[in-house]
Amino acid sequence: HMKGAIFDLDGVIVNTAKYHYLAWRSLAADLGFEFTEAHNERLKGVSRMRSLDILLEIGGLEFDEAEKAAMAERKNRRYVDYISRLDDSELLPGVREYLGRLKERGIGIALGSASKNAVFILDKLKITGLFDAVVDGNTVSRAKPDPEVFQTACRRLGLQPADCVVFEDAEAGVAAARAAGMRVVGIGKREMLAEADVVITGLHEL
Ligand code: BG6
Ligand code: MG
Ligand code: MG
Repeated sequence: HMKGAIFDLDGVIVNTAKYHYLAWRSLAADLGFEFTEAHNERLKGVSRMRSLDILLEIGGLEFDEAEKAAMAERKNRRYVDYISRLDDSELLPGVREYLGRLKERGIGIALGSASKNAVFILDKLKITGLFDAVVDGNTVSRAKPDPEVFQTACRRLGLQPADCVVFEDAEAGVAAARAAGMRVVGIGKREMLAEADVVITGLHEL
């Protein structure tokens, strides 16, 4: 019996992956190499600094920490530029309806995201008020597949792991939920989310 629902943001509630991709690609172009959509798959669910490390590895480049901090900052400015134009038309299908139904049933709703821009995005989508707890990249220090983000969200809902169901589109996120002892609804392709309890294509299916 589910008492709490914990949602990943990107790929579950909104498709911001395309804006992350455009911002990373433009940073790679500045550095003189091509960054493809296939490369971008490796960044899904991964923290900003870890994403930069993967990107630089793809480009075969090395920089010191200060230079990397400046690059991550530059990428984020471009990303924020894109997402500042987001509106609720970019909510993925079924999100508003499903969250509304959970609310009616008295189920706790939390966000469990790696992004430091999560609150900004929820505000743009006008769904901040639906969440009882928001746990994001500013709150937690250990990135998925570490369970910290979901454990914190569960605690903030005042629940136990066995009461919570996690909705995730990234392999690292499914692993994090599993490590937290929670049930997982995978969003995407069965092959990629083999560890999930069930896999659906989106919240509109529920
Ligand atoms: C995750 C995304 O939600 O947040 C990753 O799936 C992203 O692609 C990560 O790198 C960190 O986001 P931000 O907004 O803090 O750079
Ligand atoms: Mg995601
Ligand atoms: Mg995420």
